[in-house]
Amino acid sequence: MQTLGPRRRWPGLPCPSAREAASMYGTAVAVFLVILVAALQGSAPPESPFTYHIPLNPEETLELSWNVNYTQETVNFQLLVRKLQAGVLFGMSDRGEPENADLVVLWTDGDRAYFGYEPIVTAGNEALVHHMEIFQCSATYESFPHFNGPCDSKMKPERLSYCRHVLAAWALGAKAFYYPEEVGLPFGGQGSSRYLRLEVHYHNPLNTQGRRDSSGIRLYYTRSLRRYDAGIMELGLVYTPVMAIPPREPAFTLTGYCTDKCTQLALPPSGIHIFASQLHTHLTGRQVVTVLARDGQEREVVNRDTHYSPHFQEIRMLKKVVTVHQGDVLITSCTYNTEDRQLATVGGFGIEEEMCVNYVHYYPQTQLELCKSTMDAGFLQKYFHLVNSFDSMNICTCPQTSIPQQFASVPWNAFNRDVLKALYGFAPISMHCNKSSAVRFQGEWNLQPLPKITSTLRGPARHCPASRAQRPSGPTVVNVTRGRG
Ligand SMILES: *[C@@H]1O[C@H](CO)[C@@H](O)[C@H](O)[C@H]1NC(C)=O
Ligand SMILES: *[C@@H]1O[C@H](CO)[C@@H](O)[C@H](O)[C@H]1NC(C)=O
Ligand SMILES: *[C@@H]1O[C@H](CO)[C@@H](O)[C@H](O)[C@H]1NC(C)=O
Repeated sequence: MQTLGPRRRWPGLPCPSAREAASMYGTAVAVFLVILVAALQGSAPPESPFTYHIPLNPEETLELSWNVNYTQETVNFQLLVRKLQAGVLFGMSDRGEPENADLVVLWTDGDRAYFGYEPIVTAGNEALVHHMEIFQCSATYESFPHFNGPCDSKMKPERLSYCRHVLAAWALGAKAFYYPEEVGLPFGGQGSSRYLRLEVHYHNPLNTQGRRDSSGIRLYYTRSLRRYDAGIMELGLVYTPVMAIPPREPAFTLTGYCTDKCTQLALPPSGIHIFASQLHTHLTGRQVVTVLARDGQEREVVNRDTHYSPHFQEIRMLKKVVTVHQGDVLITSCTYNTEDRQLATVGGFGIEEEMCVNYVHYYPQTQLELCKSTMDAGFLQKYFHLVNSFDSMNICTCPQTSIPQQFASVPWNAFNRDVLKALYGFAPISMHCNKSSAVRFQGEWNLQPLPKITSTLRGPARHCPASRAQRPSGPTVVNVTRGRG
């Protein structure tokens, strides 16, 4: 067993170019992945000093463990290698790409020995099961048909699309999820469906055949109700093509609001307490952050992931519970990278479309299930008119033309991009301040002004000086400890 020495401190390390190293050591196994340092899950005591474990490859010959020490600001890693070939090359970078990897460790002692390995879980599908979710079905229907099969199967009963309320979500690398002691999520009983839908998503790049899998999520429940019911609320942007990202953008940000008017109306006087959060975008999402603002000032970050990856969508416990009072504003911003896209990426349900969502878990439960916004659709038509007046009427503004079609015919240039960006920054919004069962709270929610924010929080402190992005002087020797076996 080979173990890479723990306690690699980020700031001090030089970063040799992984690509150079990779080409030098052609036979080395290359592993790149994104580690979510912010993930802090569950409260169960770890059986090893490393809280988090993931298999790195489908063959499960590489396992990475790590933990985070927030006081020391260090991340400790342990890499277990079951079958050492010429060596191992290990790196981390923003998007799992070899370029600009933060850390590269490698060695080539060239022997083909097997090292002892004790898997934490015996024969299993740890590397194949990518994420799982449990949805509660809508109480609108008395019963739901039984179905067991692929999610995209034609045989899948239509009615299962009414099972959309997320009860639990797990993803590769995540720990168990426990509610705070006084809190539980109510399910079952009057007015609640008795049906749940379990989705298991597999990642099987090697097309491994003949595996059987019965993975799932075990729900613990109690007969004596806990003091507070937990609720889940959706923040961010409404799924609509009105919100779009121009093509070839390295970092374009869209923002969704939960306005003071909605929290004033929908939250109890004592407020609510957010204790966990699950961020969600589709393929181009790179950063997601939700900030709480009060009296026009940003006060506190609810959850932030500046290295967001759609591959890691687990529910994360917040390090600090955030209390939201009546009249507070919750601002959710998502930053997208569309450098490899030729057309605008519009908001929507499709995997090629985008979303910007933060599912926050909070207590006590309220009726507010969704607090999201979108720019007013009328202003988007004004935008298309404006683009047309400069660029010879490319975009049809007739009612039959859909917004995605309109966006597809925008001739993208710096001006058209900047105007769209500016519009998203000042045009009035349509608020969706909705109760469950898709009913809006009473009130006027269209053409609402954007919340005025006079002071913003500073971004997260960067520990890496900019110069680290430059070409390194050379590789650094790292000692590798040889474990048992
Ligand atoms: C973090 O490091 C500090 C200083 O070495 C140590 O006292 C503390 O126990 C560590 N915490 C964890 C969670 O490992
Ligand atoms: C909010 O509720 C209204 C109905 O009152 C519905 O038309 C709208 O689609 C809902 N919003 C979302 C984002 O589900
Ligand atoms: C690596 O280990 C050897 C032997 O234990 C020691 O002499 C050497 O100083 C170590 N090198 C580094 C860079 O820690």
